[in-house]
Amino acid sequence: MTTIAIIGAGPGLGTAVARRFGREGHDVALIARNRERLEALAADLTTEGVTARAFPADVRDPETLAAALDAAHVTLGPIEILQYSPVPHRDFMRPVLETAPADLIGPIEFSVYGPVAAVRQVLPDMWDLGRGTILFVNGGTAAIPHPDRAGTSIAFAAESAYGHLLHETLAADGIHAAQLVIPGAIVPGHPRKDPAALADALWAIHRDRHGFRHYADDLDS
Ligand SMILES: NC(=O)c1ccc[n+]([C@@H]2O[C@H](COP(=O)([O-])OP(=O)(O)OC[C@H]3O[C@@H](n4cnc5c(N)ncnc54)[C@H](OP(=O)(O)O)[C@@H]3O)[C@@H](O)[C@H]2O)c1
Repeated sequence: MTTIAIIGAGPGLGTAVARRFGREGHDVALIARNRERLEALAADLTTEGVTARAFPADVRDPETLAAALDAAHVTLGPIEILQYSPVPHRDFMRPVLETAPADLIGPIEFSVYGPVAAVRQVLPDMWDLGRGTILFVNGGTAAIPHPDRAGTSIAFAAESAYGHLLHETLAADGIHAAQLVIPGAIVPGHPRKDPAALADALWAIHRDRHGFRHYADDLDS
């Protein structure tokens, strides 16, 4: 079975997606910065019968991110599914009139350079397999920019454009690029925004393979 690489493998959506795709038989490469937390999560998943390994990397360091994905490929085998869902840093969310060029470096590194580095690293596996899925997960500012969250709003627009271009360009190769926009917060127990419900939505996008942008809930929720 092939591998899903989850970039931003934390306790919320990352864990739920690891369980959901692991249940379908995929091996799971867990990527985030904190090695200890990743290894604890990998151990938990292993006790549940999912093959999972930790590959620490900071998405703002493209070389380290590419090296982590390469290590995942070597250890677990070809990566068929890439999910890019690290949770953005608080200091990216400044009001638009307080946002200077230097304040956009982090958001652009995080939401543009990181995805581009990750996608370029995994595409050869997907081309070899003749299939693949690239999943971008974003908050509501990807769809409606918010004046108090300028960094993420601006960088998510660029990430969305990149994803859309991939969607158009890679379809002929059997590679489906899609985005899940989660308006508001992830809410445990919510029928559509509980992490497990969102993981089901991501599985359905991977399985059904149509359309680029999907919404986890109504935009005004
Ligand atoms: N939580 C919400 O209410 C909410 C709302 C709307 C959309 N979303 C989206 O849903 C997705 C998952 O959110 P979640 O809150 O459930 O997150 P999660 O899966 O619980 O964890 C995401 C992980 O991203 C990692 N991360 C942060 N910065 C990173 C970096 N520079 N490099 C590598 N990894 C990094 C963090 O681990 P380390 O600290 O170990 O790096 C964190 O544990 C994200 O795309 C987020 O934008 C979340």
